[in-house]
Amino acid sequence: LRIAVVFGGRSSEHDVSVMSATNVMRALDPQKYDALPVFVTRDGRWLKSHFRDGELDRPSTGAEICLVPGGNGRILTIGPGGKATEGDRIDILFPVLHGLHGEDGAVQGLCNVARVPLAGCGILGSAAALDKEITKQLLKVAGVPVARSMTIHGDEPPALEVLEAQLGLPLFIKPARQGSSVGVSKVSGRQEFAPALAEALRHDRKLLAEEFVAGREIECSVLEDTKGGLFVSRPGEIVPAESHGFYSYNAKYIDENGAVLKVPAELPPEVESKIREMAARAFRALGCEGMARVDFFLTEDMRILVNEVNTIPGFTDISMYSKAMEASGISYPEIIDRLVEHGLA
Ligand code: DAL
Ligand code: MG
Repeated sequence: LRIAVVFGGRSSEHDVSVMSATNVMRALDPQKYDALPVFVTRDGRWLKSHFRDGELDRPSTGAEICLVPGGNGRILTIGPGGKATEGDRIDILFPVLHGLHGEDGAVQGLCNVARVPLAGCGILGSAAALDKEITKQLLKVAGVPVARSMTIHGDEPPALEVLEAQLGLPLFIKPARQGSSVGVSKVSGRQEFAPALAEALRHDRKLLAEEFVAGREIECSVLEDTKGGLFVSRPGEIVPAESHGFYSYNAKYIDENGAVLKVPAELPPEVESKIREMAARAFRALGCEGMARVDFFLTEDMRILVNEVNTIPGFTDISMYSKAMEASGISYPEIIDRLVEHGLA
């Protein structure tokens, strides 16, 4: 089976995607899969990559890959001189892209137009889950509790007092459409507000101010089978190091001791089953397909809130999706097999 693993990309999670895709490539059984890694440069060109000695090439020039619209997986390879060659094709595309232009329905739409089966979530669920404002609206309608927030449009930021009156302090300022906590700041007072807005605005024109929820960070992996049934993993817990204050980009990917993962999380059985049930409800409410990781806050008085849903969750060494699945009896290669089966069904 010829599988294109598309990675890198235009979003600020480019480097995270490279880490995720490297692990996906390592887990692909070469007896079953003939992989074509495709590197998406930061400016969005799709270049043919190679997987050598356990690492992925990140070329800056070379053969460009082009999916033929309606081509059922036919691809054109365009050489440096502009000469296109045909003959190669793929059976399925696995986007291992995080954030905008990859996890947001864009590549999913491309697959649809090209008539190429896709591993993971389709257009609607991808687009809904990547936008934190839309996510909250859909979850609220489905009766899934979320942290309180206010949407800020870049050209009309309210005064901090207005946000504080609704949400209290500290609060978070986040870009609405981002992942890996890129551009997220915690604001405890006036002096932090303007820099937090400026930082978030570098990533999106639409921002969210969100209440600070004191609680544990719990995550659950969801995998859909070919008949539409959902497997929800046992929950895992992320314990960020005190020094980071919250599970920031640095705590996730830069500082080796930034956080500790506990899988499965130590939870009373009734809380665990409520979380797993809520993960499935959130998955459905957003119109997800294939897979997603649902992230929660659990407060001291055992209130459960959904923080966000990631339709292409990280597959890095420190990522929860595969660890929670493993703790529930599904190995890394099996996740990929099931996603591929789901995509081809
Ligand atoms: N957005 C990152 C990759 C995650 O949710 O794991
Ligand atoms: Mg995310």
